[in-house]
Formats: sequence, C-alpha cells, structure tokens
Amino acid sequence: MNRQISQLKELLDLYRLQSFGYEYFSTKKSMPVSEAVNVELPDDLEQLKEFVYHCHLCDLAKRKTNYVFGEGNVNAKLMFVGEGPGQREDELGRPFVGRSGELLTKIIETTLEMKREDVYIANVVKCRPPGNRVPNQEEADRCLPYLIKQISLIQPKVIVTLGATAYKYLTGDMETPISKIRGEVLEFANTLLVPTFHPSFLLRNPSAKRFVYYDMKKVKALL
Ligand code: URA
Repeated sequence: MNRQISQLKELLDLYRLQSFGYEYFSTKKSMPVSEAVNVELPDDLEQLKEFVYHCHLCDLAKRKTNYVFGEGNVNAKLMFVGEGPGQREDELGRPFVGRSGELLTKIIETTLEMKREDVYIANVVKCRPPGNRVPNQEEADRCLPYLIKQISLIQPKVIVTLGATAYKYLTGDMETPISKIRGEVLEFANTLLVPTFHPSFLLRNPSAKRFVYYDMKKVKALL
C-alpha cells in the first residue's frame, strides 16, 4: 500500500479520535476535513474498501455496526445507487439485503433479465443513518467522494439512482422532484444516469411499480 494511502488512514484515525472528544495538537497545520476528502483516493476497489473501513469523517461511523461499501461485478455495465444502509444492511455489511433489497433483486432478475451478481450496487453513504433517517448534506458530502471513486473505477454504462436522495446527492440537483425526473436519461460523469423510484417507496406504493418497469425497460435498451 502506498505512502499516501497510509498517511490518509492515519488522518482518518485522527478524525476518529477527534470525534470521541480528543484534541489534537501538532506543530504542523492539520488538514481540514474538506481537503481530506479531496485527497486522491486509491485507484483500486479493494484498497478503496479498506480505506472506507477506516473512515470516521462523520458521526454515522460511530453508531454503525458495519460499513456497507457496495458489492457486485466490478466490470458491471449497470450500477445501482441507493441512499444508505438500513438495519439489515448494517447487520450484514452488504447493500440492499432487506425487504427493499429483495424487491430490487426481483426487479433485476425479472425486468432486466440479469443476475444480481452481474450489476454493482452501492449507496451514497456507507454507514447506516440512525433510525433509517435520510442522510444529511454534511454526511453525504463526506461520503460522496467514495461513491464517485467507485463509479470512476467501475465505469458503468448506466447508473440507476434509486429514490430522491440518491438522485439529489449524486447529481447535485436538489430542486427537481423525483416524480418529474424519473425515467429521464441524463448524462453524468461519462455515463448515462437514469433516476427511478426507490424500492422501499414501491413497497409502500405498489401501484408505482409500473413506472419502474418502464424505466428498467429503457435501461435495458440502453445497455
Ligand atoms: N436502502 C438503501 O437505500 N440502500 C440499502 O442498501 C438498503 C436500503
């Protein structure tokens, strides 16, 4: 592992101690968090995962059981991006393994006619927000560089954002409602991005499933 990565890990450990209330004095000027998250991240998914496993850049890391980095085919043409881990994901350290995960898997298998292992699945935040609340702007800002790096390493042809939160934080478009933008094909970071509804919304509103069906048919054609 190169020197820069181990320096970054040390830095993340310092932030962890700071989050427990320790004060850090150095004769050198310490790097502000905003700069820390801009520092180059590893160009390798396994190293990036290791790196995330040391992250304490926000308070979510304190209360989580497991980091949920993401999983799937590292050469996937299709990547799904959700909001953040729920209870089951937090327990198992894997994305979309609860009830909404079961529905997502079904959508992948039946509508896209793909296997779950063929796609890549990640979230905006890698630690569970308490009580499954929506991650706030600061939490998303600190975690987003990891997702952006995952996208740049996997280079999917199409990204599907699941729900309003993933769409907003990933694209920075905080205005457009998900009901207006879903199903559109947008250009994003050298890939195509298709926003759709979150599976947990579909569990509460089964009549909206038909919209996701249309969106996935569009995604299938793009692939
Ligand atoms: N909801 C999400 O947004 N992500 C998960 O991983 C699980 C549920």
